[in-house]
Amino acid sequence: MSSHKTPDEPVTADLEREVRELRAALKASQDELREVRSTATGSKPIPMPKESIDTARMEQTIAERSREVRVKQEALEQANSELRDLTENLDKIVRRRTQALVESEEQLRRSNDELKRLNQMKREFVSIAAHELRTPLTSMVGYLELMAEGRFGVIGEKMQRPMMSVRRNAQRLRRLVEEMLDVSRIEGDHMVLKRTRCDLRELGAAVVQELLPLAETKGQRIVSDLQGCPEIDADADKIHQVICNLVSNAIRYGASGGTIEVRVDRAPSEKYSGSWSRVRVCDDGPGIETENLDAIFEPFSDINPAKHHTSGGPAAAGLGLYIARGLVELHEGIITVKSEPGVHTEFAVLLPGI
Ligand SMILES: Nc1ncnc2c1ncn2[C@@H]1O[C@H](COP(=O)(O)OP(=O)(O)O)[C@@H](O)[C@H]1O
Ligand SMILES: [Mg+2]
Repeated sequence: MSSHKTPDEPVTADLEREVRELRAALKASQDELREVRSTATGSKPIPMPKESIDTARMEQTIAERSREVRVKQEALEQANSELRDLTENLDKIVRRRTQALVESEEQLRRSNDELKRLNQMKREFVSIAAHELRTPLTSMVGYLELMAEGRFGVIGEKMQRPMMSVRRNAQRLRRLVEEMLDVSRIEGDHMVLKRTRCDLRELGAAVVQELLPLAETKGQRIVSDLQGCPEIDADADKIHQVICNLVSNAIRYGASGGTIEVRVDRAPSEKYSGSWSRVRVCDDGPGIETENLDAIFEPFSDINPAKHHTSGGPAAAGLGLYIARGLVELHEGIITVKSEPGVHTEFAVLLPGI
């Protein structure tokens, strides 16, 4: 009997097979007994010659057979009872596990609710903090600009460097606050788009012109190729912001002395059904490993350990691509990235044409 097996093993099948065998053996013995009995009572013709009938032996055989039947019957009962115990045991285990499952589901639901609540609190906190910081910062940055221009008197040589540093950091803080506000607007569904007819070529050209001086500080070239493309119904400032982020990333993470390409065209219809305007930004920097391609669109993504040593523009918080994706999706568009580390990295933004 396999009652030593753990309840999880298929002991029931073993036992059932054993019981079936025992039943067959019992039936065979009963048949045999019936045969012997009918032979003894003469209800059937006696198959052996008359002279060989020995009543005493016959009775002894019957007694032996009866004993065998009893033994087998007991074994059968024993097997049946073990089977019953096992079934009960299994039932208990199933009931216990079902209960545990229900409890962990409940726990999961509670943790999920708690996470949602914390997430909501985080959003509110970010939104309130960003709003509260914006006004004093705007005033500080304004005054710092005026001071730097010498409106409040000439800044002595000794003051020049600290002044520059304070100004740079105040600007950086203001940018971070603006990004935090964008994140809370996107996440809270409060971002309002001021849509007008726009041409992606104009937006691309404006960004290139704006960021060319920054690229030159790293000895980079920006090559633009602006082809005809469908007009889009978009918030020009927001799309400008998206392209700006992609080009400034290409400057920041691209190789010094490298080339950045900004291309605008109509997305190929064999690949994208419908009419799409497309802008692609490509650089020849170290690129992004395949396993990080999704992570870079997450907030505060910091997959690049060398990030803090990269040059080109002010330090960034890792919110740019998260905001870019949010803005593109608000325009029913698509943002993609492909990268061959060490060779090139290309970000593409597709926006539906009018
Ligand atoms: N052109 C690029 N080449 C290599 N890595 C990039 C590029 N653009 C973005 N990344 C990676 O994606 C991360 C997220 O980008 P982003 O959201 O714009 O944040 P950041 O504020 O760091 O620029 C960056 O920290 C960088 O590691
Ligand atoms: Mg960025």
